[in-house]
Amino acid sequence: MAQLSLYLLVIMVSLFCNSSLAEPAFARHSQSNGYIKDSCRITRYPSLCLQCLSSYGNSTTIQSPEQLAQVALSVSLYRAQYTRAYMLKVAKELESSKAKGYYQTVKDCLAEINDSVDQLSQSIRELRRLGQETVANDIFWHISNVETWVSAALTDASTCLDEFPGHNMGKLKATIKGKVLNVAQVTSNALALFHRYAAAKYRAANRKP
Ligand SMILES: *[C@@H]1O[C@H](CO)[C@@H](O)[C@H](O)[C@H]1NC(C)=O
Ligand SMILES: *[C@@H]1O[C@H](CO)[C@@H](O)[C@H](O)[C@H]1NC(C)=O
Repeated sequence: MAQLSLYLLVIMVSLFCNSSLAEPAFARHSQSNGYIKDSCRITRYPSLCLQCLSSYGNSTTIQSPEQLAQVALSVSLYRAQYTRAYMLKVAKELESSKAKGYYQTVKDCLAEINDSVDQLSQSIRELRRLGQETVANDIFWHISNVETWVSAALTDASTCLDEFPGHNMGKLKATIKGKVLNVAQVTSNALALFHRYAAAKYRAANRKP
């Protein structure tokens, strides 16, 4: 039940973070976003971070760096899945049309995003294991696994972005680039929020006798 409602919340929340330009009206009015706002300050795209997560503002669901990392990674996975679905559709359309050169670009990029989806799913499972761990050495192991997978997901999204250099491009290319850029940015933010949680978790374990 808790799992299901978290999932629904993530879907709802991730609807608000598909554009770094849209004005997050609800964020301005929310009164108890202090914790999330503070946490988002350490990310590279703080306004996107706030936009994605601030609808949690009044809810009691997020009370810890662990939950914040979990939600941020789930949002990132959801955006990657959404982008993959979109690109699958585009690739099918291009395949039946005759724009072959362009089709290859989209297919390569799709493979990268497909890998990102995989790596983000793995990192979320590993994050759950990390949460249950109490031995410092094992904590370190889980942390480095999450770190590796999230970084790889970010690298894959960036590799895809490299296929779309410059600013002058058609509408379809610009749309794809925008969606992939969004995946890269929310993933970068999730990695920063994870680092914060990981550092606290590791310190706490080392403090124990
Ligand atoms: C948050 O809660 C306060 C009072 O507890 C309320 O006045 C405010 O409208 C709520 N904000 C949102 C975004 O729900
Ligand atoms: C996506 O990855 C899965 C394995 O993780 C693979 O079976 C599938 O063919 C891939 N799809 C694309 C479009 O690359």
